[in-house]
Amino acid sequence: MLKIDGKKAAADLKADLKKKVAELKSTYNAVPGLTVILVGEDTPSQIYVKNKEKSANEVGIKSEVIRYPEKVEEKVVLDKIKELNDNNEVSGILVQLPLPKHIDKRKVIEAINPSKDVDGFHPMNVGNLSSGYESNIPCTPLGCYLLIKNIEKNLNGKHAVIIGRSNLNGKPMAQLLLKENCTVTITHSKTKDLKAECAKADIIIAAVGRPKLVKADWVKKDAIIIDVGINKTDSGLVGDVDFDGVSKVAKAITPVPGGVGPMTIACLLNNTVECFKKAQSS
Ligand code: GUN
Repeated sequence: MLKIDGKKAAADLKADLKKKVAELKSTYNAVPGLTVILVGEDTPSQIYVKNKEKSANEVGIKSEVIRYPEKVEEKVVLDKIKELNDNNEVSGILVQLPLPKHIDKRKVIEAINPSKDVDGFHPMNVGNLSSGYESNIPCTPLGCYLLIKNIEKNLNGKHAVIIGRSNLNGKPMAQLLLKENCTVTITHSKTKDLKAECAKADIIIAAVGRPKLVKADWVKKDAIIIDVGINKTDSGLVGDVDFDGVSKVAKAITPVPGGVGPMTIACLLNNTVECFKKAQSS
């Protein structure tokens, strides 16, 4: 069994990006810029945003975090996004989710210029991805995809089972794997027999937020298991997969922490660099 080292994969990608940023700097006398908007005091969001900022700085991306109190008016956020859309020094804009209830997430996402939408959440990017056209790809599924491709170059005809149908992960994950000619099943809370679906999978991507949901007897021998879950329990952070049991059956499996998480951030930096490059050539 291979324990997939997400930290190492992310470090490799970041080293590559650092070189690219240095090259871009000498070519254009400018560096990619990432602006993150954070509303409120949600603790996990604060941690994510700190990590994003730190990682951006490590590779030479200019990063800025704009913080608003929980009660900020929606218009203030929308006006700021408009300003950032028009700012040439900003290559990528990310509005950290979740947002407070009085702010319309859809309006906020749609306000971002699709070419600066490093999350790939704008309908234009979602549509382009599902049509198989070039697009910004959401960071978590992109990270999962790269980890899978590191293990298995040719995914033709593989049966992938995705647990969770979110816009953040499940749906874009399905599009990425379809492009690779996988047969894709998306399962969710109303799926009748999740265990039976998983038992058919060559690849399982678990992203539902249910601690240790996927058990060893759900998993086909030599399957690849990608665990997107981050669940706080009395015994610490655990994923959506019962790592100890499943690792005895799987060919490869991501740990939690140290699997998908570091790759998500590295992919955000990758998307920021890509947005910068496209902006230079447009
Ligand atoms: N909150 C949790 N994950 C994400 C993400 O990938 N992007 C944004 N913008 N917010 C998040």
